[in-house]
Amino acid sequence: MKVTWVFAALVLSCSVSASALDAATTHQQTMQHNLMPLPASVTFQEGRLKIDSSFTIAVTSYSDARLQAAVDRMARRMERRTGIEFAPSLAKDSSKATLVIQCQVAGKEVPALEEDESYSLEVTAQRADLKAETVVGALRGMETLLQLVAGDREGYYLPLAKIADNPRFPWRGLLIDVSRHFQPVEVIKRNLDGMAALKLNVLHWHLSDDQGFRVESLTYPKLHEMGSDGHYYTQNQVREIVLYAQSRGIRVVPEFDVPGHTTSWFVGYPELASAPGPYQIQRRFGVHDGAMDPTREETYKFLDKFLGEMATLFPDAYFHIGGDESNGKQWKSNPKIQAFMESKGLKDKDALQAYFNQRLLKILEKHHKKMIGWDEVLHPDLPKDVIVQSWRDVKYLHATAKQGYNAILSASYYLDDMAPASDYYLADPIPPGSDLTPEQAARILGGEACMWGEEITPEMIDSRIWPRLAAVAERLWSPQTAADVQDMYRRLATVSVRLEDFGLMHNSMPESLLRRLAGTQDPGPLRTLWEVSNPVTLGIRETTQTTPMTHMVDATVPDPVSRREYQAMVDGLLSDAPQLRTYREELAEKLAALRDLPLPMSAIIDRSPILRETEPLVREASNLGEAGLEALSYLSAKLPPPAGWEQAELAMLKEASKPKAGMSLAVVDSIRLLIIAAGQIDQLQISTPEEWKNHVREMTDEDMRKRGHKDQQ
Ligand code: ACM
Repeated sequence: MKVTWVFAALVLSCSVSASALDAATTHQQTMQHNLMPLPASVTFQEGRLKIDSSFTIAVTSYSDARLQAAVDRMARRMERRTGIEFAPSLAKDSSKATLVIQCQVAGKEVPALEEDESYSLEVTAQRADLKAETVVGALRGMETLLQLVAGDREGYYLPLAKIADNPRFPWRGLLIDVSRHFQPVEVIKRNLDGMAALKLNVLHWHLSDDQGFRVESLTYPKLHEMGSDGHYYTQNQVREIVLYAQSRGIRVVPEFDVPGHTTSWFVGYPELASAPGPYQIQRRFGVHDGAMDPTREETYKFLDKFLGEMATLFPDAYFHIGGDESNGKQWKSNPKIQAFMESKGLKDKDALQAYFNQRLLKILEKHHKKMIGWDEVLHPDLPKDVIVQSWRDVKYLHATAKQGYNAILSASYYLDDMAPASDYYLADPIPPGSDLTPEQAARILGGEACMWGEEITPEMIDSRIWPRLAAVAERLWSPQTAADVQDMYRRLATVSVRLEDFGLMHNSMPESLLRRLAGTQDPGPLRTLWEVSNPVTLGIRETTQTTPMTHMVDATVPDPVSRREYQAMVDGLLSDAPQLRTYREELAEKLAALRDLPLPMSAIIDRSPILRETEPLVREASNLGEAGLEALSYLSAKLPPPAGWEQAELAMLKEASKPKAGMSLAVVDSIRLLIIAAGQIDQLQISTPEEWKNHVREMTDEDMRKRGHKDQQ
């Protein structure tokens, strides 16, 4: 990546608060922009192209309805941002236009893996030129242009820039599971808008599972009629979504997961199963025994007709057949299936599943589709144009590429791990120093973030996806060298706010849910607790499909700002040895608010029993606040704490680290650092401040190692 700062004083970012976080980043960034994903090459120059009501847009060379609709959407977004009304139609005379968009060809009629998404953008003081080979390339460039729009006392403008850009990986996706919890059309649409803004190009739509079958089938209507609780997409709605995605240069890859994860199919068609019915929609999550019977010809006739119908509804070249977590229990307990395996020489469940996949592959080929499946489908008998999606471990990704298959990475991008954006950001599909040959590396097509549906509702799904998905988007689009975590977080904050333009509710949901939980306009102390809480990774909470997702944990967001804010403050404080003054007051104020939570929280809990489950978390948050304040007072006084204090506080932290009511406290690690620093204060007298800080860090690391502690989420 080439980033050249020609004019170092130009500051484009608008910082929302003068917090410790901002202070930590501004010293290293004099020239800031909010481009995300970072372009392959970008150069800025002094000067600006003003945006006012005389701003006009012209399209030269190739044009079509898709391009014109996209230009119109861009203009409206720019209008909404700036409040300036532009000319309602395109400029006739391109030589006088402010923005000239020039692309050569339509590109693929249906967005495709092979699409050319490259573009260049040059902004001079006279005009902006966006050039692309294809319409999709132009769409990507328009998103960059919108991210460049900046404002200051003189008004809105584009900075002078020269950008040449293209993606590192051609497959950059998001899986949305609509089976465990249904997501209405508008939820999918607003997320497609967000994806397009971050240059993502695949919606992997997980449409069926044990808990729901979500597409209308005219061939086998009992699938959606009996398997969906009435929550499914009509075929017209599917077409509407596919077109909406297409117009944004996004492919839609449907997944109908087989042979396992199929209980919802069996409600209407029990004869497909390997054990007799009747079946009901599964409300519990996890792996269930229901699996299609791979030994009956009727199963393949059914799949042929069904997939034939779906193949016309979903125009993408690829079709996802799932293939994950088929436990083989129903196969094992069915004597007919066991006899079939023996007659065919299929030695185990994996061999039987490979046989099933072979049959399925023939059906897909008949309907002109290429197959993609989860990494369990990997088998020497599969042809090499099958794509394998690695979800169990990154190691499967490289093994797949080494065996000659195309592969995409999801294992590192499970959004329901509720991990910090930085974890996803730093997970490279082809890490530096990888032992893949260039040919093998070229088989890694990219990756997909996964938003599994167990614990999401239409109200809070956005908060589980955004803004962290933008970090994945950058990993998959930008050059490998884009790896500055602090700068990623800085840009992410701006991206997050701009995503609200599409109606995405990741920022607005928490306040609304907290208000309802507290039953008051101002959730007060509940917000203080919310700030330091992180939802736990999927699978720790005990939920089913019918659990109301309106608990405190559902209002919390993964990777809360407080985690990095506390880190920055504690780091600032310890770096200021031996004075230890920097951020001391700010930290003390925050810690006191935590310490003092129990009383006001108990008043809220008395009104809202739904919050009673948070009592243990409130107690731990208060303990953390108290311990942090004590540590601060020892540090301020440069007095060692009494014997046993450090050990007692670390034992308390161990308790405080455990999830409660589906939440963990995001600031535990920072408090640990404070406690250990206080415990080591006498070392400060005998070493330089730098040595002391290193010593404290070593002690903290050792404490974490002793506890087998994974970095706090
Ligand atoms: C999966 O998470 N079972 C693909």
